[in-house]
Amino acid sequence: MPELKFLPFGKEHIPEVLSIENLSFPEPWSREMFEREISLPISRFFIAKTDYRIVGYTGYWKILNEAHLTNLAIHPEYRGMGLGRKLLAYVINNVTQQDIEKILLEVRESNEAAKRLYISMGFNVTGLRPKYYGTENAVLMEKNIKDFKSNSKQTANPDCQLSKT
Ligand SMILES: CC(C)(COP(=O)(O)OP(=O)(O)OC[C@H]1O[C@@H](n2cnc3c(N)ncnc32)[C@H](O)[C@@H]1OP(=O)(O)O)[C@@H](O)C(=O)NCCC(=O)NCCS
Repeated sequence: MPELKFLPFGKEHIPEVLSIENLSFPEPWSREMFEREISLPISRFFIAKTDYRIVGYTGYWKILNEAHLTNLAIHPEYRGMGLGRKLLAYVINNVTQQDIEKILLEVRESNEAAKRLYISMGFNVTGLRPKYYGTENAVLMEKNIKDFKSNSKQTANPDCQLSKT
């Protein structure tokens, strides 16, 4: 598995992130939407990179004591190697360091890979939002951070420390 560094998202990362976004979603975010994440005070957004390139990104909005996951993707050539799990573990660890009680997200009902990843990382299904993505339903999921904070095995993950470089 490639070594990953996690860095705060910046303007210089937009071209690479946009190309992953366009390969990953039927309705990808635009350049303007990524630019907004950089300046939005409630947004926390991160990239994951190897020595050579950006391989994934994720982010959330901190709204009061909730984290709303806004995006998560791994470059198609790097999927199935455990990097999505590492990236999600990183962002969960970031959330646990703040005054946040739960993480909320929506995922397309047909997105089995993402649903399995979230379930395996302790998210529970809490509802369904019909036709949220045009013709497709959204599955609502959440993870209780208070419970997670008491699980020392997961919080001790050394892969989840923010790189200083
Ligand atoms: C969802 C996504 C981020 C997973 O990233 P990844 O690096 O491939 O995932 P990992 O290799 O870390 O796998 C973690 C777990 O996810 C699940 N998973 C990953 N790929 C899967 C697949 N093709 N089919 C079923 N489950 C899958 C499995 O539970 C896996 O755990 P396991 O290997 O122990 O079985 C990636 O597929 C992606 O970028 N998809 C497109 C964008 C997207 O859908 N984002 C989510 C929006 S809500």
